[in-house]
Amino acid sequence: MKVLITGAGGQIGCDLAHMLKERGHYVIATDIASRPLAMCADQWHHLDVSDKNSVISLFRQDEPEVVYHLAAILSARGEEIPQQTYKVNEIGTFNVLEACREAHVRQLMYCSSIAVFGPGTPDPTPDDCFLQPTTMYGVTKVGGELLGNYYHSRWGFDFRGVRFPGLISATLPGGGTSDYALFMYVNGVRIGAYESFCRPDTRIPLMYMPDALRAIVELSEAPRDRLGRCVYNIAAFSPPAQEIADVVAKHVPGVKLSFRPDPGRQAILDSWPNALDDTCAREDWGWSPNFDLEAMSADLIPKIRDLLDDHIQTPPPGRF
Ligand code: SER
Repeated sequence: MKVLITGAGGQIGCDLAHMLKERGHYVIATDIASRPLAMCADQWHHLDVSDKNSVISLFRQDEPEVVYHLAAILSARGEEIPQQTYKVNEIGTFNVLEACREAHVRQLMYCSSIAVFGPGTPDPTPDDCFLQPTTMYGVTKVGGELLGNYYHSRWGFDFRGVRFPGLISATLPGGGTSDYALFMYVNGVRIGAYESFCRPDTRIPLMYMPDALRAIVELSEAPRDRLGRCVYNIAAFSPPAQEIADVVAKHVPGVKLSFRPDPGRQAILDSWPNALDDTCAREDWGWSPNFDLEAMSADLIPKIRDLLDDHIQTPPPGRF
């Protein structure tokens, strides 16, 4: 099957392309940035999703059957450039939906986020809950979910999405507020120290990248008649930041992990749920995470060490 990825140069893209290739798909990767060295896709195209004509003509030319829409500006960066964030995230998603309709794409997979929620949601937070985000990123993710639901009910278009927790991987993220968790691992291994920009008691939903990739691919493959909704909460673990630091310290002896909260980013973290209720995903399409905090740490830390060795010997492959 021909699959197209938008925003493939970000934290998720290379690993997602790899997983889709392993499943035998022909992968067309696109991004506004240049091709990462680690990208294994069959084709690479420059694509600015905020340029509607470019999106439509590329989709018409390449005729993907399924599109994974990853292109977005994340929450922390989004607060620095809210107008640009609206353009890329909200208008970009509208353009991608329109291009899917015009080019007869069969299915659009959408990356939503815990950031659709604002302060005061129940713990754990269910799928159907008030959506009052405080960030432009969250506002645009709500907008994308609503647009997709509209295309589904209006035209029967197969729109599906997951609300990702903060994602942890060896691949560096770009401008997220959940990044403190990832940097405890990557900088902890790489330079032996990291100062988190949050309080030690901060708790948000987190997930290891292999589970996140499996979630979105398995949702794509689930029979539509099993799905009671278009967008699903998915959950793995929600440790306080101090607990993450303690686990990293156990695996990386001598590492120096400290906390100096940044008021802006802490306010965003405090506005998000502590944990998500993913009952609907479990019941409708059998979602279940493989990794908890301990299992992730045991898998991830050796991977970061391997990349560090590669990095010393060869130029970095789009990582670190
Ligand atoms: N990881 C995202 C961010 O921090 C949340 O989905 O912006």
